[in-house]
Amino acid sequence: MDLLVKLYDISDIDEKSFLKDSIIIKRAIGPEKKAVVDWVGKNFSSSWSSECDVSFSSVPPTCFIAIKNKEIIGFACYDSTARGFFGPIGVIETERKSGVGKALLIRTLKQMFYDGYGYAVIGWVGPSEFFKKTVGAVEIPDSDVSVYKNMIR
Ligand SMILES: CC(C)(COP(=O)(O)OP(=O)(O)OC[C@H]1O[C@@H](n2cnc3c(N)ncnc32)[C@H](O)[C@@H]1OP(=O)(O)O)[C@@H](O)C(=O)NCCC(=O)NCCS
Repeated sequence: MDLLVKLYDISDIDEKSFLKDSIIIKRAIGPEKKAVVDWVGKNFSSSWSSECDVSFSSVPPTCFIAIKNKEIIGFACYDSTARGFFGPIGVIETERKSGVGKALLIRTLKQMFYDGYGYAVIGWVGPSEFFKKTVGAVEIPDSDVSVYKNMIR
């Protein structure tokens, strides 16, 4: 299932206001590609690392990372499977439930708004409650297969 998010409603939210000072959220840059893509493959899946790899195809990359003590603790991408699609997003288990996922989500969606999108599609959602609660995402009817039809792994 896919979800839809209004980007114009969240463009003024300051993600730094609820994030611990020790955590940095930033757009990834080219020299970080291998480290980020490998990290995503190690901590999540090969299909997510492929999407992350695609997000480094543009300059600047359509990938944001969360850093703590100089280590990656989370990532979020957009425009990696279809234009206007947000995702994937992931935070390592030890750093969850402290606002990192929400901050990554909002920072990345804000960038989509700055890039000119009015809405974002969150593709193939897992924890839909997270997206509904944090950014008011709504379900797109009949979107179970979406753009992922006949995807090979
Ligand atoms: C989904 C994910 C990115 C959330 O990251 P996180 O850092 O734990 O999220 P946050 O701490 O910013 O949570 C923000 C709010 O959403 C809630 N939330 C977080 N994960 C949730 C979930 N799986 N289901 C429902 N609510 C959730 C939190 O309780 C919090 O609520 P609060 O503001 O009332 O305290 C993380 O759990 C993850 O990496 N999961 C595995 C990968 C995944 O499923 N990605 C999504 C693919 S579509």
